[in-house]
Amino acid sequence: TILVVDFGGQYNQLIARRVRECNVYSEIVPYTKALEAIREKQPKGIIFTGGPNSVYLEDSPTISPEVFEQGIPVLGICYGSQLMMHLLGGHVCPAPEREYGKTEVTVDLSSKLFQDVHEKTVCWMSHNDYIERVAPGFTISAHTDNCPAAAVECPERNLYAVQFHPEVLHTQEGTKMLSNFVYRVCGCAGTWKMDSFVENTVRALREKIGDGKVLCALSGGVDSSVAAVMLAKAVGRQLTCVFVDHGLLRKNESEEVSAVFGPDGPYDLNFVRVDARQRFYDKLAGVEEPENKRKIIGQEFIRVFEEEAKKIGRVDFLVQGTIYPDVVESGFGGESTVIKSHHNVGGLPDYVDFKEIVEPLRDLFKDEVRKAGRELGIPEYLVNRQPFPGPGLAIRIIGEVTPEKIKMVQDADAIYREEIANAGIADELGQYFAALTNMRSVGVMGDERTYDYAIALRAVTTTDFMTAESAQIPWEVLGKVTSRIVNEVPHINRVLYDCTGKPPATIEWE
Ligand code: XMP
Repeated sequence: TILVVDFGGQYNQLIARRVRECNVYSEIVPYTKALEAIREKQPKGIIFTGGPNSVYLEDSPTISPEVFEQGIPVLGICYGSQLMMHLLGGHVCPAPEREYGKTEVTVDLSSKLFQDVHEKTVCWMSHNDYIERVAPGFTISAHTDNCPAAAVECPERNLYAVQFHPEVLHTQEGTKMLSNFVYRVCGCAGTWKMDSFVENTVRALREKIGDGKVLCALSGGVDSSVAAVMLAKAVGRQLTCVFVDHGLLRKNESEEVSAVFGPDGPYDLNFVRVDARQRFYDKLAGVEEPENKRKIIGQEFIRVFEEEAKKIGRVDFLVQGTIYPDVVESGFGGESTVIKSHHNVGGLPDYVDFKEIVEPLRDLFKDEVRKAGRELGIPEYLVNRQPFPGPGLAIRIIGEVTPEKIKMVQDADAIYREEIANAGIADELGQYFAALTNMRSVGVMGDERTYDYAIALRAVTTTDFMTAESAQIPWEVLGKVTSRIVNEVPHINRVLYDCTGKPPATIEWE
């Protein structure tokens, strides 16, 4: 294991993920619990992350210098590099020139960290402070025009520090540097694979849960499905999955989820489908504002779920399919700052009586969850499913949600998805869907004047859903989808394509 000590930077999970990409298991601990975790887990290496603070200020995150006495290699990144210098007797202060962005760095090729790296290599910099004087026993192993100590090291003690961010892709040889650290400095074997994660997690869950009762809110999305199957493998029928059909799902989705997880499906678990469609429609009547819709759906979901949970009786563990990006975007991301609050994290736990929450996917990125899903033998169409927001079609219908509008957007969306599949381009897209604009416009059909709704088609490419580009869907495909939608879906007479990226737009329309 490589332990990543979180000092509040935005890229922290990315560090753990890059290490896992080297086939070395990695997880994150907040700096406040680091020493304890190091003693307990005896990692082969430690990485200090970046962070927004200045090491010389009194209340900044820090760690006991004991960490350097454990005989475990340490790599400090950005704030982490400054902290290492500060704690070991160097001097950190505001830099005369702050550096931000892609920067050419000249590295010392004899350093273990820079084996097989080019002498001049582009790295991502983002810092206001710099290492003015290195700590005793350390030498400088890289510099830039503005930063005399862009990397420092004390190979005798296996301590390394870099001012730049090797974990972001803008650092062209960053992965090489991290793999040098884990293989050459820490001596990791690089034999870890996703199947060991799955196996170990299932075993750990079984131990933790014992003969306890487990409850899972299953949405049918990738995350909750993978979490549910892991739990089913671990404890079988001690698990009950509650699937709330809020009537805002895509066409046929409710039936599909029931087919996979229900009694006729391959998994050994208790499955409860709750038909709550009318309840949600009643609550949403007359509501137009997106955040209000989210709030109402969130609250009603909790209410329905709570009622079901009561029927089940005693619950010991509540499963959540939280994955790492949810954690960050909801501001629960360890030490990093709030970006967004709309995700479904942290909602249910307050309303169900249970002993403990289990989140087996909390450290994983989406593509890692899919890998885990494949290891678990979950059907490809489920594993590869695109993300679908908790509030469902309600935030793909601008303005008031009515059953008629839901039907329109469901039908249009189903046609769009079908034609994307026919064109064989689904794998290139991060997310694609139809939204119902609240706009009506004049058209002509046969000899008749129409005054009907416009559907907007959206397709984006993205790696992390935090930024996205509008995808260039072939014109023929869009043409085919358009003619099918206006012909097959009543009350749609116009189809638009959304060319906006995120930012400035978001992926969803609300
Ligand atoms: P945006 O629209 O913010 O979406 O660019 C980014 C990703 O988050 C999903 N999304 C949500 N997921 N509840 C969710 O569970 C929500 O309220 C919500 N809003 C957006 C969206 O589908 C995309 O994948």
